[in-house]
Amino acid sequence: MRIQDKVIVITGGASGLGLATARFMIEEKGARVAILDLNAEAGQKAIDELGAERAFFVATDVSSEESVQRAVEAVVDRFGAIHVCINGAALANGFKVLGRDGKATPLARFAQVTAVNLNGVFNVMSKCAEKMAANDPEGGEERGVVINVSSGAAYEGQIGQAAYAATKAAVIGLNMPAAREFGAIGVRVNAIAPGLFLTPMVAALDAKVLDALKSQVEAPRRLGDMREFAHTCAFIVENAYVNAETIRLDAASRLKAR
Ligand SMILES: NC(=O)c1ccc[n+]([C@@H]2O[C@H](COP(=O)([O-])OP(=O)(O)OC[C@H]3O[C@@H](n4cnc5c(N)ncnc54)[C@H](O)[C@@H]3O)[C@@H](O)[C@H]2O)c1
Repeated sequence: MRIQDKVIVITGGASGLGLATARFMIEEKGARVAILDLNAEAGQKAIDELGAERAFFVATDVSSEESVQRAVEAVVDRFGAIHVCINGAALANGFKVLGRDGKATPLARFAQVTAVNLNGVFNVMSKCAEKMAANDPEGGEERGVVINVSSGAAYEGQIGQAAYAATKAAVIGLNMPAAREFGAIGVRVNAIAPGLFLTPMVAALDAKVLDALKSQVEAPRRLGDMREFAHTCAFIVENAYVNAETIRLDAASRLKAR
């Protein structure tokens, strides 16, 4: 699918990889981008930077059916359609299955992560796909593209990442059934599993911690540049034959248990 003038919904787009992708899609690909994020202040800042002509922000909680329904309608009112949906909103809350005292971690802590990282992805993907089905098919075959953001933790979750890793693996499991189902409406579904990226949060870490992280990356031995993530999103959108795939974007890094 050509990206020029297409409408791209990015959840979690007010920060980190999502914001970098919004910037790349507008500035380098001529897209129109709707950022759906919980953080209204950061969302407004993003629109100030990207310009209200091509960027739009809706304060949204991806874990709420009503909030996402409202946001998706607002995007269609503003831009007329939705062609691409990139699900980046996530919580990285770390905790062990058993707490320090050896007691089972309360289920509510696990459920808080699944509500955003898994239910949130289904919630946004399904509502965006419903709108994509109304698009004219490009080249007679393509109405939309979904990209769900997984993580290397889906494969090698570290101690303390049980909830995060489980949700990120579940996102990979969504690929095939959704891609098969959406074949009928011309919508592809893929995932990206990033390794360690130089997001503002990571960049703010102490130099020693940063060096330790870098040493776990194989080649090239550095953290990922956020533009490399955005570029991978563009590749998936532009290449119509990529479907039900998960791209590990991690310079061959495989994190240790802790
Ligand atoms: N940064 C990395 O190195 C890395 C590595 C692997 C995977 N990932 C994945 O990439 C994605 C982006 O990561 P990032 O580091 O850029 O994150 P980030 O923390 O910078 O941004 C996440 C955004 O999601 C938003 N958000 C959180 N809960 C939300 C909710 N309920 N509804 C709507 N928005 C909500 C936050 O407000 C924030 O703006 C995430 O899915 C993350 O798991 C990141």
